[in-house]
Amino acid sequence: MTKEDKYAALIPAVHSLMSDEPDEIARMANLAALLHNEFQFWWTGFYRVADGDQLVLGPFQGPLACTRIRLGKGVCGTAWAEDRTVVVPDVEKFPGHIACSSESRSEIVVPVRFKGQVVAVLDIDSRELGTFDEVDANWLEKIADCVYGPQRDIWFAAGCFWGAQKFFKMIPGVEFTEVGFANGWVQNPTYEQVYTDTTGHAECVHVRYNPEIVSLKELVGLYFKIIDPLSLNRQGEDEGTRYRTGVYYEDERDFDILSKEFLRLEKKLGTELAVELRHITGFFRAEDYHQDYLDKNPGGYCHLSPEIFKMAAKLKKK
Ligand code: SME
Repeated sequence: MTKEDKYAALIPAVHSLMSDEPDEIARMANLAALLHNEFQFWWTGFYRVADGDQLVLGPFQGPLACTRIRLGKGVCGTAWAEDRTVVVPDVEKFPGHIACSSESRSEIVVPVRFKGQVVAVLDIDSRELGTFDEVDANWLEKIADCVYGPQRDIWFAAGCFWGAQKFFKMIPGVEFTEVGFANGWVQNPTYEQVYTDTTGHAECVHVRYNPEIVSLKELVGLYFKIIDPLSLNRQGEDEGTRYRTGVYYEDERDFDILSKEFLRLEKKLGTELAVELRHITGFFRAEDYHQDYLDKNPGGYCHLSPEIFKMAAKLKKK
């Protein structure tokens, strides 16, 4: 088996490990184990960007390693600073190489990006000289891109967040959801505080999705199906500014996509929507008992009709 074949055979396992787990440390831990065991490297692991100017040791397999590396230092700090993969056939010939283990002879470091920024590096050491080449670089870059995937975030306020979370969780391409409070003026509000309607927050679902499976345009189209877009501060029986509707984005480019869909619906309905379209200025995760509330309480209160969930259940993975 060539190493190309080995890498190619690993990809399905990488995808399933990465998409089944929302916690990044857990994903890195299993990825390090998968690569390490498959290739019997000497050291396989991650360093994560911390405090803006250094890397801190993350999940790894192999002997003990140094815990902190400064921007631009060593192979890891160089790969981070220059935002590129660095292949080192002989570590002794790399000026500034940091020898965590005297047995390491060659090394490869690949940047791990999230939303275009380097947030970690994948570092692999070998006890032989010249272990890594372009083939490793290409495959490991693909694999490093899977750590965060091409995921994007958007926040939907759709009235009571219990039913809204259940709905968004059912949509193929949605990889993670959490409920919380968006765009108010109090830090870390409790549900009780938000309930008084004095903190400015809207009950909201944070949706993380894979744009290769579901687009923002499709998501906002589905969102419009679960709200009354003309109702101000009221959805179903729930009334108050905390139950207002809104779409909150973090990436300005999303505004163009969203505003087109808002306009399209306004034209169709012949009137202005009562739905906010704003930058996300703050999101605070709600207490644990609100997360996945209707999974934990199947008969619990839900302002959305059963037809909405039937519709969501019919959505097919592309
Ligand atoms: N050799 C790395 C330091 C980390 S160890 O290889 C685990 C470097 O020069 O950045």
